[in-house]
Amino acid sequence: MNLFDAITTRRTIKEFTAQPVPDDLLHQALDAGRWAQNHRMTEPWRFFILGPQSQQAVAAINGDALLEKARADAETLAKMRAEAETKILSKPRIVAVTCSLCGNKEVEQEDYAAVSCAIQNIQLAAWGLGLGMQWSTSGFTTRPATYALLGVDPAQEMIAGLLYFGYPAAVPAAKARKSLAEVTKTLP
Ligand SMILES: Cc1cc2nc3c(=O)[nH]c(=O)nc-3n(C[C@H](O)[C@H](O)[C@H](O)COP(=O)(O)O)c2cc1C
Repeated sequence: MNLFDAITTRRTIKEFTAQPVPDDLLHQALDAGRWAQNHRMTEPWRFFILGPQSQQAVAAINGDALLEKARADAETLAKMRAEAETKILSKPRIVAVTCSLCGNKEVEQEDYAAVSCAIQNIQLAAWGLGLGMQWSTSGFTTRPATYALLGVDPAQEMIAGLLYFGYPAAVPAAKARKSLAEVTKTLP
């Protein structure tokens, strides 16, 4: 796949087959992340590859998060919790990505941009390897329980998101984008 095809055909994948993600492919995709551009060579990212126990814990956190807001009878709540947990457990592989916080607002902004570049590299590399990925920033991904699970100090690092990996069960059609002319202004 050439680079431009990879960029334009890449989609956010939310539905995966049950086929496991080989570790070597996951590592290759993550390795593309550490080659991302980053100002001052801060390399502000860390990747946390979740094992089955951690994924189960994330599923429980998602269940807790959903139930906190829900108002319903006990049976409905139990069903909602089960669905919230199944949603996470259906992801073949999950990687949490953090971004370091140095206390300097300008550098933190650059660092978050660099982590975003790393995630884009990872998603494109995964795509080239036949793997789909979704970047999730749902509320539960940044709850205190998620920080505790990863062993991350929220004063030192922020969770930029959870990445869900797997072989695509379905590839959605591309969402329409504004044309280049709409977002471009050529100055004299
Ligand atoms: C910072 C960021 C956070 C995102 N968070 C979510 C998310 O929480 N849930 C989700 O379904 N998609 C999430 N996405 C994916 C976007 O919704 C997706 O890229 C967009 O709909 C365009 O679809 P495409 O990636 O297939 O082109 C996120 C993307 C970015 C850049």
